[in-house]
Formats: sequence, structure tokens, C-alpha cells
Amino acid sequence: MLHPTAPIGVLDSGIGGFSVVRQVQRLLPGEELIYFGDGAHIPYGNHSEETVVAMARYMFSFLEERGVKALLVACNTISCVLERCADAASCPVFSAVQAGAGAAARIEADKVGVISTVFTHNAQIYPRKILALSPRKKVVLSCGCPDLARLVEHSLGDPAGMALVEDNLRQELDPMVLEDGVDCCVLGCTHYPLVAGSIRKLYPGLLLIDPAEEMAQSLKACLDREGLNNPRGELGGLSIYTTGDVDEYALRARQVGLERVAGVEFYPPMELE
Ligand code: DGL
Repeated sequence: MLHPTAPIGVLDSGIGGFSVVRQVQRLLPGEELIYFGDGAHIPYGNHSEETVVAMARYMFSFLEERGVKALLVACNTISCVLERCADAASCPVFSAVQAGAGAAARIEADKVGVISTVFTHNAQIYPRKILALSPRKKVVLSCGCPDLARLVEHSLGDPAGMALVEDNLRQELDPMVLEDGVDCCVLGCTHYPLVAGSIRKLYPGLLLIDPAEEMAQSLKACLDREGLNNPRGELGGLSIYTTGDVDEYALRARQVGLERVAGVEFYPPMELE
């Protein structure tokens, strides 16, 4: 039985899911949030499917044990294998890919670009879902970025690191934006909205689609529908857990502008063979 005062769980391989927490805190400030980032195993986008599924199930169990009333899979890579993990949750589960594809399908653009991890790109889940959901004909181009999530994870606020992020963005995005001329770009990895400012600076006028906004809207609609809004009438806190570096997560949470951080704690990572 789900309870309205229960927390909402958000998970990602790293700090990328902070882009989703940011939107949820804006839209649903009264909700209590628990975040789990698997800093020990990032980047997920370069792991095998079996490993991603095992690590995702580990994180689902962690959040289940804390009695969450909804679970936001703020990781596009895990969203690709959701049908293999969703049974580990007993509450509504929200997929970053479903949100991003839904938003991209609705906009009036003929040529849609998607940037994502290599795993998400290889799954071709975005092109398939966007084309299936779109009421009009579109061309969808997808590009897998092997290094971008890891660079973003460790570079926010560091000018030298951000210069590397911008070099990498140019290398990955120039062909799609300058040669293929996409009308918009889906940020198909939750780390990328954290550097949306850099992308806008490099490609002024390019419309960016951040699945985080749509995820927060879908969550709100679900809580409204199910009568699960937190009735306390107070601002909700955010508890962060990571299998990675606690101090780095605390710093990143401040840099991203997350509010009411109640604490950042270490949790042991799943052991990989
Ligand atoms: N933030 C994750 C995503 O949305 C993945 C980053 C990674 O671990 O490769 O796909």
C-alpha cells in the first residue's frame, strides 16, 4: 500500500539524475526525495546489458527498501532495459526515455537529433519510440557519446574540465547540427542537461529537449490521479546516497542548485565480477 507521505526515489549511474531532481523540486516542492547515484560504476553507458540490468536491480532494491511511492529512472541507459528491472519495484516507475521520446514526438520538427550514451544509441530506443509516438513524419538521427557523461560528472565548475566538455560536445554534435542540420536535439542522457548552457553557447538557437521536465510533469499527473500528493504542506527534503565520493556529490548538488539537501551518505556498491 503506497502512502502519500512516503518519499519519491530517483536513481542514476551518477549525478545526471540531479537534472531530474531539479525539475521535481521546482514542480513538487512538498515532496520528500531520496536520490541514489552509483558513482562507483559510472559510466553505465559503456557496460554490457547484463551488467546494467544487475546494477539497476540493485538500486531498485535499495529504494524499495526505503518505501518509495514512485521511482524515477533518471538514467536513459537503465530506461533502455526497464522491462528487465521494473518487477523489482512495487510502485509506479517513470522512464527517462519514455519522457524524452514523448516530448520529441510532440514538437513540430522534421529532423530530430538525439545524443545519448553509446548503450542508449545502440539500443535505438529513441528513434523507435519517437517515430512510434509522433503524429507526423520525422527523421530521427542518433549519436552515441562514449566520454561525455563521465566528463560532465567530474567537470562542473572546473574551467579546464569544462573546456574538455565543450571540445567533446563539438566533436559529437558538430556533424549532427552543422552538417545534418537537425531542428532540435534531445538530451538523451541525464548528465547532458547539466551542461545545457555550454550547448546553447556552442549552438545558439538549437532547440534542446530535456526529458527531466516531462518526467516531473508525468510524476505530478500520477500523484494527482492516485491521490498520492504529500499532504504535509511543508517543503520536502532531499537525502542523497552514493556508492561514489560523498564530498563530490555534496559539491555537485550545490553546483546544480539542488535545494534542502538533508545529507549525503555513502552506500556500498554492488560487487561486479
Ligand atoms: N546519466 C545516464 C543516462 O542518462 C548515464 C551516464 C552513464 O553512466 O553512462 O544515460
